[in-house]
Amino acid sequence: MKKYGIESLSFYTSRYYLDLIELAVARGIDPDKYTTGLGQHLMAVVPPDEDVVTLAANSAKSALAGIDPNEISMMLVATESGIDQSKALGIWVHNLLGLSPQCRVVELKQACYAGCAGLQLGLSYISQNPHKKVLVIATDIARYGLHTPGEPTQGCGAASFVLSANPKLVTFEPEQGIFTSHVMDFWRPNYSDTAFVDGKFSTKIYLEALEQCWKSYQEQSGRKFEDHYRFCYHLPFIRMAQKAHERLARLNGKETTPDAVENSFIYSRQLGNSYTASLFIGLASLLENTQEDLSQKRVGFFSYGSGCVAEFFSGIIQPGYKEHLKTDYHRAMLESRTRTGMADYESFFTHKLPQDGSHYVISPYNTGLYRLSGIKNHERLYETKP
Ligand code: COA
Repeated sequence: MKKYGIESLSFYTSRYYLDLIELAVARGIDPDKYTTGLGQHLMAVVPPDEDVVTLAANSAKSALAGIDPNEISMMLVATESGIDQSKALGIWVHNLLGLSPQCRVVELKQACYAGCAGLQLGLSYISQNPHKKVLVIATDIARYGLHTPGEPTQGCGAASFVLSANPKLVTFEPEQGIFTSHVMDFWRPNYSDTAFVDGKFSTKIYLEALEQCWKSYQEQSGRKFEDHYRFCYHLPFIRMAQKAHERLARLNGKETTPDAVENSFIYSRQLGNSYTASLFIGLASLLENTQEDLSQKRVGFFSYGSGCVAEFFSGIIQPGYKEHLKTDYHRAMLESRTRTGMADYESFFTHKLPQDGSHYVISPYNTGLYRLSGIKNHERLYETKP
């Protein structure tokens, strides 16, 4: 049987972070609440010249290394931090990356679930067009607002993966347990640049959706909990995924050990919530931080997007996958970031581009290869660094 899946996977996050202990002290909160209660340590913060386009382009550049860009015949970009109501942000990315004019570009939206939608739509396309490749990018900046309960669960990141009939990392199984329900746990109206969220309700719905998805997936597949060697969950904050895994184990009358999930948390603990990207950064973290050979092992995946749509599905790690990981690049990227203090974090957070059509130039901060250089006549301007 022909196999389809992920040929290449990479991620990118901003070059600045805030230590959550510093945030806790500034907000008069016990730091243990953030590090233990939420399970988060560092939070990526974006400087004025980084946005979802630059995050996306930088991650995709790395995912495409060694792949002929002309082979990409479709690019699906998942985000809930979109910069335009009409034009897909992927077109800016397409331009920065120099992809083929014959490549179809579309933006997908359903809160944090859209990256999973991109994966499944891309796989369907590849099964019909096995000689083509699809680039899926999940890119987001999680913003809840200064002094809000959601503040320590912000962050940013983009994950990019190439889907093809030459899956060097992971193939996916056909069963998909899906759950959709109209709930108002998290949303962001067009006029707001921060999310409205009923945080506690969102954590409750996340767990309920997991149960529903699991039951549907199990009915379709006949697989048991213990048929899955490792699990990757949507990661709004690490403690959420730990609770989800404990809930799933309990539902199945099983004990669970941290081994089943811990390695998938390592990167997100250092960059925070990346909404659509978090599940795939979790996958990169699992593959790159597990010494043991995971070849032929089954991983269970759970994606949750507020509002809500959720999905449980599974994949098989491919033999030889270790040779195709970008571990050194990702680790060096995380280790070389600049620590910001509260003043820079708050000034980055409150920075706004003019909305009156004036020409505004953004002075350079530390970024990857691509940066937002300014805005003119309401048009965002990007540049590729030499
Ligand atoms: N030491 C250790 N743990 C502590 C603590 C301390 N001093 N003080 C509090 N905690 C624990 C709480 O017991 C709680 O853990 P529990 O849920 O296991 O009981 C956890 O820290 C969070 O504290 P709590 O007061 O319950 O919540 P909060 O008001 O800080 O809000 C969120 C937490 C996640 C709801 C909030 O950050 C949020 O709205 N985030 C955005 C929405 C989101 O991420 N939703 C997830 C689904 S998509």
